Amino acid sequence: MNHADDAVDRWQAADGSWLEMRQMRPDDEPRVKQSLNTLSANSRRNRFFGSIAEFSDEAVHRLVSVDPQKEYLLVVVRREDAIEIPIAGGRFVEHEKQPECTFSLLIGDAWQGQGIGRRLLKALLREASLRGLRTMRGDVLADNRPMLSLARSLHFALVDSDQGDGVVQIVCDLPDAASTSWRSFVHTVLRK
Ligand SMILES: CC(C)(COP(=O)(O)OP(=O)(O)OC[C@H]1O[C@@H](n2cnc3c(N)ncnc32)[C@H](O)[C@@H]1OP(=O)(O)O)[C@@H](O)C(=O)NCCC(=O)NCCS
Repeated sequence: MNHADDAVDRWQAADGSWLEMRQMRPDDEPRVKQSLNTLSANSRRNRFFGSIAEFSDEAVHRLVSVDPQKEYLLVVVRREDAIEIPIAGGRFVEHEKQPECTFSLLIGDAWQGQGIGRRLLKALLREASLRGLRTMRGDVLADNRPMLSLARSLHFALVDSDQGDGVVQIVCDLPDAASTSWRSFVHTVLRK
């Protein structure tokens, strides 16, 4: 299938391969399943807060099916012989009653620590602000140092979570994209 250029971001990784960030498409599903099933136990636990032995077709379908009015789902792919291999993803889901959303990130083990999580989280923050949302939240295991330091560096605050022991919540206030504080947000957070 031919897709219009819907890249949100495109850059070269440390190993020289070209990576592209774009919205998830339904035809990504089989390769997302393959990528999810190669994740380490630690990454599965940090993202899903439990041990998942195998991602089934149904589970993957639920993960990649979004309502574009209420959700935003980005994938980062690496092109290999004209095939796009998903290596990372990030999403937010809007809350029902408040202008808020909850995000999550997942970077493939071999690709962690190369700035991909930071790029994805900034893209999510930008889209959430442009949609008029005022708060972004994330639930994180209290021992997930990489996620907590990434969040801290992008000005998230730490609050209690209702997700149980061992889970903390990170919160970021989003400016109105039409306000003067938007420019400072772009400068101090999105450009970091
Ligand atoms: C947590 C996660 C999203 C971070 O993404 P990443 O691409 O690995 O992180 P980045 O390379 O963008 O690093 C951004 C910052 O995170 C922090 N960080 C990343 N890896 C780290 C590590 N191993 N230890 C401590 N801090 C780390 C640093 O502050 C880093 O900033 P720096 O590069 O200026 O030092 C990613 O590792 C991941 O998907 N882990 C498994 C699933 C998960 O934990 N999801 C979060 C729950 S929502």
